[in-house]
Amino acid sequence: MRFDQRHLLGIEPLRPDEITTLLDLSERYVALNRQQQKRSTVLAGLTQINMFFENSTRTQASFELAGKRLGADVMNMSMQASSIKKGETLIDTAMTLNAMHPDLLVVRHPHSGAVDLLAQKVNCAVLNAGDGRHEHPTQALLDALTIRRAKGRIHRLNIAICGDIAHSRVARSNLLLLHKMENRIRLIGPPTLMPAGIDAFGAEVYEDMKEGLQDVDVVMMLRLQKERMDGGFIPSEREYYHRYGLDAEKLSHAKPDAIVMHPGPMNRGVEIDGTLADDINRSVIQDQVEMGVAVRMAAMDLLARNLRAHPKELMV
Ligand code: NCD
Repeated sequence: MRFDQRHLLGIEPLRPDEITTLLDLSERYVALNRQQQKRSTVLAGLTQINMFFENSTRTQASFELAGKRLGADVMNMSMQASSIKKGETLIDTAMTLNAMHPDLLVVRHPHSGAVDLLAQKVNCAVLNAGDGRHEHPTQALLDALTIRRAKGRIHRLNIAICGDIAHSRVARSNLLLLHKMENRIRLIGPPTLMPAGIDAFGAEVYEDMKEGLQDVDVVMMLRLQKERMDGGFIPSEREYYHRYGLDAEKLSHAKPDAIVMHPGPMNRGVEIDGTLADDINRSVIQDQVEMGVAVRMAAMDLLARNLRAHPKELMV
């Protein structure tokens, strides 16, 4: 079992065997989380600080729960009320927190690259909880675990990622992970929501949902990232739903046992039909949430092991 990272900043630096290590350890935490007694002491004595500069429900809650279940001292910084509002820079805030000797820093930030920058300034392990449209590694890992449990493997599957690819860090991290694990990936969406140079990722690009969904094993839907759009990328939400919203009819083109995923938060009636999202025979959206806690426990466990094994190397 090897995991040689000091931070979890993205999927990009991970080797396939490191991804497998993390998923295998996550399985153990899935089992722990299903017990009545969920407490472990893996992170006992360590301090975890969560800094969310962008709104979050699932990711923040699951990082907090993950740390608490592993026995860490967990602090949630309220960034709305922090000195950032008084003009302090991200780096100054990071240095201030660093002086309090945290061991694990979980950061979400609206700017791509901000979390990498911060990791260079502190001497604890940093976990990226989503930076701009760049990466969201724990989301891709929890998606991989959900797929592996539903399909029995995480390689040689046909996987469609649909919707707002251009603005989505979830799409980017998933694309990187699924490509490393040798899956066949299709990206489906309007040309206005496809990033330039997407062909370089080794995925097939489709404009038409029915064509793109043909015989896929997994359908991954994405939220329209309105907060990252600065113009008219779609004619209207109604039109978008008509062409790209996943409903039973469009899903009928996928394999009969294809699973439906969505990272949340969902816009029902925009990218997905509400009834389909709730259909426990097709949708694994709630499983994704459950896997999120386990994956974050595994990620923090592995990083803490490396912290303990190489404390000096981690000093800046
Ligand atoms: C995603 C995010 O924040 O990138 N949410 C999440 O973490 N589950 C997806 C989104 O906001 O659409």
